Order: sequence, then C-alpha cells, then structure tokens
Amino acid sequence: MAGADEKPQGFLSRPMTRRAFVGTGLGATGALGAAAAGGGALGYFLHRVNQVERFPPGELERLRGGAVPILFERHPVLGHAVPWRPLGAFPTPVEPLPAPDGAPDVRFLVKRDDLTSSLYGGNKVRKLEHFLAEAELLGRTTLVTVGGIGSNHGLATALHGRELGLRTEVSLFDQPVTDDVRRNLRGFLHAGAGLHYEGGQAAAFLRARRLLDEARGRGERPYFINVGGTSRLGVVGYVSAALELADQIRRGELPEPDRIFVPLGTCGTAAGLVVGLRMAGLRSRVSAVRVVGLFPSNALMVRHFARDVTGWLRELDPSVPSVDVGLGDFEVHTEHLGPDYGVPTQEAEAALRWATPRLTLETTYTAKTMAACLNYCRERSEPGETVLFWHTYNSAPVPQASSLEGLPRGLRGVVDPGPESGP
Ligand SMILES: Cc1ncc(COP(=O)(O)O)c(C=O)c1O
Repeated sequence: MAGADEKPQGFLSRPMTRRAFVGTGLGATGALGAAAAGGGALGYFLHRVNQVERFPPGELERLRGGAVPILFERHPVLGHAVPWRPLGAFPTPVEPLPAPDGAPDVRFLVKRDDLTSSLYGGNKVRKLEHFLAEAELLGRTTLVTVGGIGSNHGLATALHGRELGLRTEVSLFDQPVTDDVRRNLRGFLHAGAGLHYEGGQAAAFLRARRLLDEARGRGERPYFINVGGTSRLGVVGYVSAALELADQIRRGELPEPDRIFVPLGTCGTAAGLVVGLRMAGLRSRVSAVRVVGLFPSNALMVRHFARDVTGWLRELDPSVPSVDVGLGDFEVHTEHLGPDYGVPTQEAEAALRWATPRLTLETTYTAKTMAACLNYCRERSEPGETVLFWHTYNSAPVPQASSLEGLPRGLRGVVDPGPESGP
C-alpha cells in the first residue's frame, strides 16, 4: 500500500472478523445493514492497501542492483513502475515426490518455495521483495504489520526487514498454540520485533493503526504491510512465481501440471498464481485449499485480487496479456480447514507424517493443503495426471531468542520459559 503512511481507517473502525457476523442477534434489516457497512469498509480498505506509489525509473533500477525478475524480463516497462528488490534465491527447484498410496499413476511434484531464502523462506519472500523495495524507496524506517501469534508473514517481515535496517512492529491476534507458533514467537524476539498482543483480530487491526500513529509520534516513518502480505503489490510476487514455473516447464524441467495445490489464507498467493499461469498460457488448474475462516479466504477475494492485479499491470504496461479471471478458473477446497484456523486436523497430521522427513510441513497451512492434495490424488485424479504441491512454508532454521524479554505479558504462558535454548 502506498501503504505506508496511509491509514486503512474505514476498515479499522469496523471490525470484520467472522465472529462479527455470527450470533450478533440482529434482525434481517440490521444484518443487511451491517453486511453493507462491512462490505463498504472492506472495499475502502482494499482500495487503500492496493495503492502503490510511483518512483523515478532510475531509483527503481538502482534498488534492483542489476537483478531482473522474470516478470520484468517479459514486460520491461513494468520495471519502470513496480518496486522490487532481490531478497531470495530463484528459481526455486521442482522435485518429484513419491506417488501417494492408492494413486500409483499420479506424477507428483513439489515446487520448493520453502527454499526461497536461507534467512527465512516460504511464500512471503516473493511478496516482501516488493514491499521492502517500496518501503526503502519511500525512506521508511519501521514496518508495521498484523498477524496471528505464530504469523509466518510477520516473522518473515521482521527477519528480512532487519537485514535492511528496518524495525518491525507486529500486532498479534490469537491462534491455537502449536510448537511452530512457539518457535515463531522466539524467532520474533530474536529478530528484535516489537510485539503487541490484542487477542481478537479486529482489535489487532486497530492496534496496528495506533502503532502507525505512535511510530510517527516518535519521529519514525512507518510502512504498513497488510496481513499475510496481501495487496496488489504482494500479489505481483506470485504472478512472477507462475511465470517462473512456466519457464521451468519450457526448459523441460517438468511437464505442465494438471493441478497445482496451494494454501488459501489471505488469497494473495493463489490469486497471483492464477493470473501468472493464464498470462503464460498454461492450463494448469489452481486448487486453493482454504485454511482460514470464510472471511477473508474465499473465491470472491481470489477473483478480486486476480482482476485487480491484472488491471493494474496492464495499465502500467499494455503488453501484459489481458486475462479475465472468473470463478470457474480455479477451485477452492473448503473441507480441510477443520474446526478453525490453526487447529490441527487428523488428516493434516497424517499428511505431515506422510511428507516427513522429505518436506517440513506445519499443521496450519501446508499439512492441510497436503491432505487435500493426497485426497485428490487418491480419489479424483485421472491416471497419468501431473499434480504439483506448491510448498509455501519456510524450511530454514528459525533463530531462537534465549530470553523472553519483549514478549507481551498475555503471551508469557504460551512460550515455555525454559530451557532457554528454544527448539
Ligand atoms: C506457510 C504459509 N502458506 C500459505 C499462506 C497463505 O498465503 P496467502 O495469505 O497469500 O493466501 C501463508 C500465509 O500466511 C503461510 O504462512
């Protein structure tokens, strides 16, 4: 978002969690009014986070330091307008996986986006290459973001931001506590992130807004990154990721996948992939596995971000192919979420065991997606199909703080105080 100084006020002043729509006790008219207000607030918020500043082409080029991402290779005019700086190691490899039991004819592959960076990998690195570029071009000193208490996005932001001399303030909301959540909290402390714990999601967004004000009050220049790193600029990272895959197919590293499985959280990863695959002329169908409650994780949001990013890129460079993403162009699998976001399911645990030790999965995003993928291979795939699992979780070791100093009081019981070495 031109994100930075902009305050997503309309959204922040109207709580938008799933709970806000459940059990409110409103009559039909009240519920409709609340839905309309919520929809308006969401529209306003999306509009604000989707703004991107314009910079002189020379400054954009300086920040790239001679590197050229594949999107700019294909459409050089975009290089004069879209902020980007290198952070990760690309292309990430595509590797074969054993065919799942019961699906011996499936050609099963994995796209190793867990290896995007040895500092902290996973899907957030491709998004951060854009955000941290914009923050640097705007001369921002502090990153402010929102996430669950074990947020991979928040941790990736804190670790990669720190490498560039930027401090991160994260507003955290509750999610079920797992070993990965504990590890990420110690990782936040190691990265020197300012942690602010609010419990509820709406309160965490409000706190983020206050953090922006407080940072300005201290004379800092804050930059806001939306939850999950999803906004027009973040989505571009996954448009490029799909072009990268298309290039690997062209080079003969893999056949064109029939299906690509990816987690669906804030929708940026799936939306970017759908657009990039179509731009590259591939027919691979994205199967997005919903791992978050209906808001904000649904097909309408995927389509919104897909259309928004396509329109924006074409406005900047008319050589970008016109792809009109509709609801029929991808699938959303809803049956693997389980009771709620972050709650491990038996199927996810079984999928995690299936993948271990070859792949490092976790039970919030990637194991639920792997469960959907294995299910698909066993029950719905055609003989000879190529199915690709897009790995989005970091597999680099997470550095652990030895002291719990800086951990908000409300989270003290979450992270075991000893032994002080961490996992
Ligand atoms: C490991 C992992 N996979 C997938 C996702 C979902 O990506 P998106 O929010 O772009 O839908 C996230 C988001 O936080 C994540 O941490």
